Amino acid sequence: MKTFLKSTLLLLTIAGVGQCYPSELPTRNLVGVAVTDTPIIRDAITFAEGYEDNTVFNHSMRSWIFGSMIVARNPAYTKLIDMEVHALGTILHDVGFDPKMDHTKGIDPDHPAKGAKAVRDFLAKHPEGKQWKESRVQILIDSVTLHLEDSDSSKALEIRAVRDGQQIDLRGPKGYVSQQEYDSVVAAYPLGQLKVNGDRGHEHPKSSMPQGHSHMKR
Ligand SMILES: *[C@@H]1O[C@H](CO)[C@@H](O)[C@H](O)[C@H]1NC(C)=O
Repeated sequence: MKTFLKSTLLLLTIAGVGQCYPSELPTRNLVGVAVTDTPIIRDAITFAEGYEDNTVFNHSMRSWIFGSMIVARNPAYTKLIDMEVHALGTILHDVGFDPKMDHTKGIDPDHPAKGAKAVRDFLAKHPEGKQWKESRVQILIDSVTLHLEDSDSSKALEIRAVRDGQQIDLRGPKGYVSQQEYDSVVAAYPLGQLKVNGDRGHEHPKSSMPQGHSHMKR
């Protein structure tokens, strides 16, 4: 009996590890899409909304919603991604922009690095964020620092998913996100000053960004 109990406990422990990380986090519905809903994610949204200008904030929210669709649908990501890291990385990826900037006059090339610093400060001041393991912090920081880089397979899945979500927003619907879904998300979080460029979505000012991401194709 004792042995039975022990092995049952062991099984429960093993199963428990798989369950709580990270797919069991609560979700809520945003524009028809299930997005992860935890206190630190809500605080990140409040922080971004209070600091960023509206155009950048809406771009970040759309990117998060698109990223959440991709994670749910791409088996390379589903249930393998730390959804809090993914959410914070996407919601905060552009906090390095000066909110007073004029979007029509190009972008600050240092905004990923400045954003990474702002995200580190956000975590350091946040009661839960300051308890985060350094490995999670580092992936989050990298997802912000590298959000303009090519999403190659050497990067952590979270970093790639952050980039994939914002690429849908910058280049238009593709792969796991349909035109209709894209349109309904844009209707809920309008583009503001971002320009729409035909069927490719609105153009990111950094035009050197690579096209096409093989892992996103069906
Ligand atoms: C951003 O989205 C909100 C709705 O979520 C909207 O009220 C606001 O006008 C949008 N901002 C811009 C710049 O379009």
